[in-house]
Amino acid sequence: MDNEEIIKLLNIDFVHELEATMVYAYNSFIIKDCEVSRLTEAISVDEMRHMWWLADLIVKRGGKPTMEHRELDFSSDDLIGQLKLQIEKETEGINEYQRQIEIIDDEEVVGVLKHIIDEEKRHRKEFNEHLKNIG
Ligand SMILES: [Fe+2]
Ligand SMILES: [Fe+2]
Repeated sequence: MDNEEIIKLLNIDFVHELEATMVYAYNSFIIKDCEVSRLTEAISVDEMRHMWWLADLIVKRGGKPTMEHRELDFSSDDLIGQLKLQIEKETEGINEYQRQIEIIDDEEVVGVLKHIIDEEKRHRKEFNEHLKNIG
């Protein structure tokens, strides 16, 4: 796989992380449950760190990170809906990263993606635990 193709895939991830960063930051402002709000805030910072890691891989290979995200969904203003949306975003990310590590043959990229998957799984687990406690 050439660098151009790798950059294209990494930009799919980059945009996903950008969207997660913004949705989680927003949710952390409006969630009234203090513990969930602080957790969501901390995880939004993790997602921004993932943006840095991906941008570093992209730029090193001659690309530029794309800031063209999809329209974001800020509509959910109940805690269960917010947690469900956040869990959905984690699952989408995990599935895409897993798909990519199967097809990318660049050791450095695969190493970073595996590390990110571990963190997304932890995020999903933490959101799920809160969702269970509420339900
Ligand atoms: Fe992430
Ligand atoms: Fe995450």
